Amino acid sequence: MSTTSTTVTITGAGGQIGYALLFRIAAGGMLGPDRRVRLRLLEIPQGMRAAEGAALELQDCAFPLLDSVDVTDSAESAFDGCSIALLVGARPRGPGMERADLLAANAGIFGPQGAALGAGAADDLRVVVVGNPANTNALIAAASAPEIPSDRFTALTRLDHNRAVGQLAEALDVRPDEIEGVAIWGNHSASQFPDVAHAVVGGGDRMVIDALADRLGGLEAATAWLDDVFIPRVAKRGAEIIEVRGSSSVASAANAAIEHVRDEQGGTGEVWTSAAVVSQGEYGVPEGLVCSFPVRSDGSGYRVVEGLDLDERARTRFDASVAELEAEREAVRQLGVL
Ligand code: NAD
Ligand code: LMR
Repeated sequence: MSTTSTTVTITGAGGQIGYALLFRIAAGGMLGPDRRVRLRLLEIPQGMRAAEGAALELQDCAFPLLDSVDVTDSAESAFDGCSIALLVGARPRGPGMERADLLAANAGIFGPQGAALGAGAADDLRVVVVGNPANTNALIAAASAPEIPSDRFTALTRLDHNRAVGQLAEALDVRPDEIEGVAIWGNHSASQFPDVAHAVVGGGDRMVIDALADRLGGLEAATAWLDDVFIPRVAKRGAEIIEVRGSSSVASAANAAIEHVRDEQGGTGEVWTSAAVVSQGEYGVPEGLVCSFPVRSDGSGYRVVEGLDLDERARTRFDASVAELEAEREAVRQLGVL
């Protein structure tokens, strides 16, 4: 057991995802049973009571790994000495709000939070942005903290990755952990490209596409299922959850955020996962965009898995999502934020 604590800051901690995150993190579900944690809960004034209530419940759990819980509406206090930041709090799209309005509202949140991270976070800081539009919010936060290496900023597409695995497991009637090599490319939005071209099943014994062809009656049927069912289902799963549940995904999003941080810190081994990272130009993606790729970590941060083939159809889908990210970056530039 470590004697020092890791400071973990959660923004929007009084919200739904915050509530689903806090208790698992405090119980060791993110950093493991040997790392003590100090939690900092950042909220806006309207969310403070909910965050304070969660802090009371955390105390009532008497978690052995939890050293302290601070609730604040000051970003400077919340990020001072922080090693892991989960940026969950964001401005949701309201009635009549255009995409540019949403980007402007969120720039007003992620710009100052990025600056506060730059001013006070610990040297080993890692950031994951969950609040939507997650990729571009991460871009804004990174641009607002020029003193922090940009590879410390990531955005969550692990939920999309897990959704893709879940759909394949059901279609192939296997356990989710029997599927490896799925990749999410692009934006955390309906334009994303969930890719199974490199995916294998049964410990690497078979390509997923061959297993699908066996079950669905041939390669053509498998390709049609991927195009017409799998890709839209994964890419629009967030909207499906909202329609069925009446509000957006919470527990699955919190689970994905925990797995994102756990694997970044603990390492992925040879298996890859998906995360949105700041592009260094990999696969021709313009530098600086926060784009989802297949990634691995050796414990020191996510790195893009390079050298995978993307055929023409895959490239077209990926390029469309990258174009959306470029349009979002341009809209933020027009606001004078970048
Ligand atoms: P929620 O409305 O329940 O909670 C958001 C909380 O953030 C609220 O308590 C609010 O007071 C707080 N907040 C707003 N502005 C803040 C600021 N400037 N600083 C600190 N806190 C602030 O929403 P939720 O269900 O918890 O979802 C949070 C975000 O996560 C949304 O943007 C949602 O779209 C997004 N999301 C992303 C993914 C993903 O995979 N990337 C998945 C699900 C949800
Ligand atoms: C999700 O993917 O569940 C969230 O990003 C919510 C949404 O609007 O899709």
